[in-house]
Amino acid sequence: MQSTSNRVYINEVAPRDGFQGESVFIPTAEKVALIDRLSTTGLAKIEVTSFTSPKAIPNLRDAEEVMCQIRRAPGVRYTALVPNVKGFERARACQVDEVNFVMSASESHNYANLRMSCEQSLAQLAEISHGARPSSIFVNASLSTAFGCPFEGRIHEDRVFAFVQSFLDRGVQGVTLCDTTGVADPRQVQRLCEAVLKRWPAVRFTVHFHNTRAMGLCNVLSALNAGMRHIDASLGGLGGCPYAPGASGNVCTEDVVHMLQQMGYDTGVNLEHLIAIAQHLPALVGHEVPGQVAKAGPADRRFLGPAPIHLLDPVLDWLDRCDV
Ligand code: COA
Ligand code: ZN
Repeated sequence: MQSTSNRVYINEVAPRDGFQGESVFIPTAEKVALIDRLSTTGLAKIEVTSFTSPKAIPNLRDAEEVMCQIRRAPGVRYTALVPNVKGFERARACQVDEVNFVMSASESHNYANLRMSCEQSLAQLAEISHGARPSSIFVNASLSTAFGCPFEGRIHEDRVFAFVQSFLDRGVQGVTLCDTTGVADPRQVQRLCEAVLKRWPAVRFTVHFHNTRAMGLCNVLSALNAGMRHIDASLGGLGGCPYAPGASGNVCTEDVVHMLQQMGYDTGVNLEHLIAIAQHLPALVGHEVPGQVAKAGPADRRFLGPAPIHLLDPVLDWLDRCDV
């Protein structure tokens, strides 16, 4: 829904988008502990894992364990990515609040990522949507490569509109526009976001940006200016689709929250707490992470200034008297 409100809802995707492409498997207990900590920060939603083929995404082969072991905090929605009906059934068995169905706007990325045509993916979505109704599971559909594809280049806006309509025809309640490989520019984002919000004002749209070409925060701002109020972000800026050449991290949650709070938006997130969690990430994943605010501290961080010169006077006097 197009909004001028100050409230922005942050969906944390590090446990899914972030961990899926790491070079090492993050132990299940560590994933659960991280998600439990994130649950106390005021985030609106957490994408906990994905119910994908363990051959395709081995790092998330413990999806059931993670989903069932986390402590669910009231007020936080817990979602999981699903690529097909089988994934949906696994997610439903774990009583997720929401499923995030994924498919691409481009045939070639859909095939690379999911080994299906777009038409086959839409058929899976119809079945998922039907299956979700009796248990009131909210169905969100993420449209990957909505702003551009690493194989096909720019995606025409009409193609994006057609997919959004196809999603809605199949009973989807929320739609995420994803810039999978960080090719979107802020003007393109503003135009597309304004257009979809104008066409479908009652739909809950979310934006999902990767910072691959350093346009991530600018794109978040453009989306907000267009009226978007739901934003995917990843702790530390981890992330990237293993089936998209050159993909790298999402916009970083603590950097996004910091920018929005500086600007007077209400994210509901305790930034200090979030930063403290982000500071543990390098040890968890075994490498530096791109996020900046966790390293620099928030903009209102204050350093000890130089000692006022008069405080040094007694020392200088004493040195004079010592004749040194
Ligand atoms: N969960 C677990 N296993 C699954 C599954 C799911 N959601 N979907 C399929 N499988 C299993 C099948 O049961 C089958 O198992 P078997 O070999 O033991 O019989 C095997 O995977 C192959 O099934 P098939 O339907 O032929 O799938 P595929 O090999 O063509 O792969 C996907 C299709 C969609 C399952 C796979 O490409 C995938 O999981 N992609 C996810 C990619 C992703 O998450 N990318 C990043 C996020 S954008
Ligand atoms: Zn992503």
